[in-house]
Amino acid sequence: MSQDLRWVVIKFGGTSVSTVENWRTIAGIVQSRLAAGPRVLVVCSALAGVSNSLEKLLEEAAGGDSSGIFDALRDKHLALARELGLDGETLLQNSFLELSRLVQGAALVEEVSPRLHARVMAYGELMATRLGAAYLNLQGLATTWHDARQSLVAETKEHQGIRQHFLSATCCHTDDPLLREQFAAYGTPVVLTQGFIARDAGGETVLLGRGGSDTSAAYFAAKLGAERCEIWTDVHGIFTANPREVPTARLLKRLDYEEAQEITSMGAKVLHPRCLPPVREANIPLHIYCTSQPSVEGTVITSDVAMPSAQVKGISSKYQITLISMESLGMWRQVGFLADVFAVFKRHGISVDLVSTSETNVTVSLDNVANALHPDALQALVRDLEVFCAVRKIGPCASVSLIGRRIRTILNQLGPIFEALGEARIHLVSQAANDLNLTFVVDENQTQRLVDVLHQQLFEHSRNESLYGPSWNDLFEEDTQRKAPAPKPWWRERRDELLAQAAAESPLYVYDEETLAAAVEQLQRLTAVARIFYSIKANPFPPILRFFHQAGLGFECVSPGEVELLLDLFPELDRRRILFTPNFAPRREYETALQQGVLVTLDNLFPLQQWPEVFRGREIFVRLDPGIGRGHHHHVKTAGSHSKFGIIPEQVDALLALIKKLGVRITGLHAHTGSGILTPDNWRETASFLAAIAERIPTVRTLDVGGGLGVVEKPGQLALDLQKVNANLAQVKAAYPQIEIWLEPGRYLVAHSGVLLARTTQTKQKNGVHYIGIETGMNSLIRPALYGAYHEIVNLTALGKTKRVKANIVGPICESGDVLGHERSIHAAKEGDVLLIATVGAYGHSMSSHYNLRAPAREILLAKRDLAKAR
Ligand code: LLP
Repeated sequence: MSQDLRWVVIKFGGTSVSTVENWRTIAGIVQSRLAAGPRVLVVCSALAGVSNSLEKLLEEAAGGDSSGIFDALRDKHLALARELGLDGETLLQNSFLELSRLVQGAALVEEVSPRLHARVMAYGELMATRLGAAYLNLQGLATTWHDARQSLVAETKEHQGIRQHFLSATCCHTDDPLLREQFAAYGTPVVLTQGFIARDAGGETVLLGRGGSDTSAAYFAAKLGAERCEIWTDVHGIFTANPREVPTARLLKRLDYEEAQEITSMGAKVLHPRCLPPVREANIPLHIYCTSQPSVEGTVITSDVAMPSAQVKGISSKYQITLISMESLGMWRQVGFLADVFAVFKRHGISVDLVSTSETNVTVSLDNVANALHPDALQALVRDLEVFCAVRKIGPCASVSLIGRRIRTILNQLGPIFEALGEARIHLVSQAANDLNLTFVVDENQTQRLVDVLHQQLFEHSRNESLYGPSWNDLFEEDTQRKAPAPKPWWRERRDELLAQAAAESPLYVYDEETLAAAVEQLQRLTAVARIFYSIKANPFPPILRFFHQAGLGFECVSPGEVELLLDLFPELDRRRILFTPNFAPRREYETALQQGVLVTLDNLFPLQQWPEVFRGREIFVRLDPGIGRGHHHHVKTAGSHSKFGIIPEQVDALLALIKKLGVRITGLHAHTGSGILTPDNWRETASFLAAIAERIPTVRTLDVGGGLGVVEKPGQLALDLQKVNANLAQVKAAYPQIEIWLEPGRYLVAHSGVLLARTTQTKQKNGVHYIGIETGMNSLIRPALYGAYHEIVNLTALGKTKRVKANIVGPICESGDVLGHERSIHAAKEGDVLLIATVGAYGHSMSSHYNLRAPAREILLAKRDLAKAR
């Protein structure tokens, strides 16, 4: 009888098992599955962040003291246990003991073998599942804790290195009646086990590598012959594009195994591609769900997706690709030409990704990341290839792939798409032999725009509701409505004042002084930062500059115009509160700035070499290139080998020789990696990079780590963790106490304070698309057209009053790119309604133009409300 039990396997990732709310959801899900009939196997990952901490623990242990990390890990688990109403000390005491013994062992031998690494990492999953099983039992769901290492056994492979053996194992997953019997013998309707871990033939703990918990769930499902395997995670499923880059990306309701394999292998992070073969071989449907929105039907992956016709299912893109174009010089038809050139690639250990051939040319693509390509390695390759043909290196490029079944048969329907591609230079087109993808290689800076256009044309208007589910925007909107208490933007509270302003004048940029004040205060609380220089290019509106002047900020300028504006507004301003950071500026601009007495930053050796008399005996800052650019769009990454900014470390020797000769003192080092960055490590990395160079220049007193602090613009983005930024910088400051750290943010200080108000002019329905036209467009706000930037748009007049519609919000400018928002859910607008475009305080008005001779919106600052009176 026991053999006939039906099973469903459900897997929860790190975020899903880290909070008491999520565990409540998990208990609810288990209950609902049990009510439907089958028994449930729950597979869990370690708590979020724990695997990273365990890795750090090992690193530190091998080098000395790791007690801080150990205590933090312990506290994290005990805190969750408390919230779950469990006695964590008792449940986890053995785990803590064993873990601490293993770590002591690592400290003694001062090194970590792959074997020890695997044993220590396993504690993440072991501890999480101890808590999980106890919690489910407490909720009245009889659950047995099962050690996954009893059931998942690594396959031994020939020629397998020891690292791969212990850290990246694969397991046998054929139907396993004995396992079914064992689970049945437990007698509980629920069994709970660990993801990520298995054992080898000798009984040692091994790991399944990246994405290992998904793979564990798939192995268990295959062994049990489960009805279904469910992966519960922090997104709703697989989308038509990366939703964090394309918020209109739509949830794919159904995929077949091959398509899912293709999409996940091309970079969709939601599922690890390794987990698909076990369920495919056993023909078990795989479902993806979002733990924070359990009612949303996610993606289901099966073998029998009956598709009426071939269809594109998704778009993915990959950066950092170099093309090598080889012109044959008449040798093309010669026997052995291709063999000769490919032998060169082999000799250099460089693998080729895509290949395209014509009568006289062979072009191949190289994945820089996979090949860990260094410019010197590339140069050497080119030199050797030149023996056979004329070689041209093209890059940086990116590939954009359309993925879907029988993609060849839809080529003829891609007419409008090729029109879209006409704007970008396509270097190479390649169609996969399995007919599941079609890839275009274009210049890297065209990628995002191309993905946007392709996505719009292929998916956003599709009415195929059985295939495409809601968009990321829609899902997020539901989510925020559900979680209501998110901080209200200022403009909701000041709606009446804004409508009154718009009645007097529109279009109009309106800034909120209270929001400016809050942003300054947040940055002034960063204890590791000695001084803040506002980057005035973000918004040089004089009342805003006055506000920041009063708040005591310095200013960062990139042109004489910006410096002069400040000196006009504040004639008494201490010149050392102005940083002048130009790029490829003419000689006279440096001369003027030095005469004015402002701090000047050089980002090239040329001025010192060519105009030595301008700098002799002066004090300067120097801008360096830390080698990696970051930012919300390729156009705003301002470091790295392809950026025009900064001096590379290899040039520091030459720099030092020059300053010595000229008696120049370098008092500050500067680096700015890009704009709109939400990764808190960015500034620590910059500071450490600069500090290492400062060690060679004793006159340096200041490290200016640039601006670039991002704000939340798109749905689903997580705010920059300022505490983390500060803690990170404090580490560097502690190592170099004599040095001051400066920051020069633009966006962070002003973005949220600004809104753009514009009246509705006309509406239109065309080919099933609803348009709302407003009186100003890319002449006032170019960011959507230039970067595909996302700005929230609401109908301020009808907020909450009319029914929502899906619309494209467009301006009056004579360009098809004059679209401020695509496919937005917005309260229906009529002529005269005031639309509000949010988060435009940074790079809104400052990048506006008179294009089409339409004046951009003017600006006003709403003064702080008298709160005492308001009360
Ligand atoms: N420092 C330097 C040297 C910069 O080049 C910039 C911005 C900043 C500071 C300030 O960066 P922020 O904190 O504002 O990210 N127009 C683009 C942004 C271009 C930023 C250029 N440099 C946009 O609308 O997103």
